[in-house]
Amino acid sequence: MAIFIDTGKIEDIKEFHRMGIIRGVTTNPTILLKEGVTGGWDGIKERMTEIAAIINPLPLSVEVTTNDPDGMIAEAKELSALADNINIKITIHGPEGEIENLQVIHELENVHDIRVNVTAMMSAQQCFLAAMAGASYVSIFGGRVNNMGYDSCDEIARLRRLLDKFELKSEIIVGSTREVLNIIEWLDSGAHIVTATPSLIKGMIVHPYTKETVQMFLRDGAKLRK
Ligand code: E4P
Repeated sequence: MAIFIDTGKIEDIKEFHRMGIIRGVTTNPTILLKEGVTGGWDGIKERMTEIAAIINPLPLSVEVTTNDPDGMIAEAKELSALADNINIKITIHGPEGEIENLQVIHELENVHDIRVNVTAMMSAQQCFLAAMAGASYVSIFGGRVNNMGYDSCDEIARLRRLLDKFELKSEIIVGSTREVLNIIEWLDSGAHIVTATPSLIKGMIVHPYTKETVQMFLRDGAKLRK
């Protein structure tokens, strides 16, 4: 799976999809708000339908906008019905630590056959329980883990060992990517997927010394042609 792009911007998604270097898209309400998605619930659905069609059959993660258990199930059903490649992001617990979210996650996966990406997790133990509940994807926010003073690579490696040991189907997505280096170090630590912004993915590609070398080749190529 490897790299997903963490954005709702159509032009960026098209650009990286055309290069063949992304294997999916992740979004969340904060990203969509910052990117100027308007039109309320219908506006979200419209943008998600457009992205899902561009990347089809690659997966697109879309987050619910409520923490009410019935509301989460209703929104998840509506969003996942937009396209076959949409999976639903549910946070591991509510804003006050409400743990009913795990029941919702289990029900969506096992009763409604909706793929769930459990999100906003900061530790291997949270991700392990989300995996036990049946999540298709478990998202750990690596940059935030580092900011709290813990080593995200250790958490990822431990989580991968546990998922493999207990043969749990969940794939690890590491998000909250802050540095270009995070992408490779997290994949190397055991993440199945790292999701990163367009500018960080671009940062993996462009190297100043490569620029200089290409300039030399072009200069000398022009001299040769004379
Ligand atoms: C991942 O799926 C999230 O969209 C994202 O990476 C969140 O990261 P941040 O809010 O810490 O930037």
